[in-house]
Amino acid sequence: MKNINNLYKKTEQFVIDSFIKIGKEQEVKHLLRTAYWIKQLKKNADEALLISAVAHDIERAYRKEDVKKIIKSGFLSKDFLRLHQERGAEITADFLKKQKADNKLIEKVKQLILRHEDGGNEEQNLLKDADSLSFFECNVNKFLDKAETKGKEYVKEKFEWMYNRITSKKAKERAKPLYEDAVKKLDR
Ligand SMILES: [Fe+2]
Repeated sequence: MKNINNLYKKTEQFVIDSFIKIGKEQEVKHLLRTAYWIKQLKKNADEALLISAVAHDIERAYRKEDVKKIIKSGFLSKDFLRLHQERGAEITADFLKKQKADNKLIEKVKQLILRHEDGGNEEQNLLKDADSLSFFECNVNKFLDKAETKGKEYVKEKFEWMYNRITSKKAKERAKPLYEDAVKKLDR
């Protein structure tokens, strides 16, 4: 158990350091809360799931010009979602390889991060749900601020997408008041 925690803690530190390096440490809270929500939704969540949760958006800390360009066509752009997931999985896998983590664990983490936006199997869905819950906790204001430049419809679409994609009943129940509150603030 000690080793498991070490690897999680090391990944968490890697994520924190990566965002501090680009002056965006405020992005870390969303990642820590995603790991928190995983534990709420699955008591016996394993290390791969927790590591994936805390690292799932790491691509943002190493964002390349091509992705910056693609995201301008919208957060639902298939190319954006694919690159965001693929690069996050690669960056995390490279870090874990350097830590000499078990290959099986690395493969599982990769598969989880690769599908954290649209889900797939039970655990991929869980990560997606925890990501949504944490989004409504941590990132609503960031998106409300975007209403001025991108328009209310854009922000509303994001809120709806983040809420509607939730699979588990428990996660949906927990997210509902947060989602409704976010929409209310947008309409104000
Ligand atoms: Fe996320």
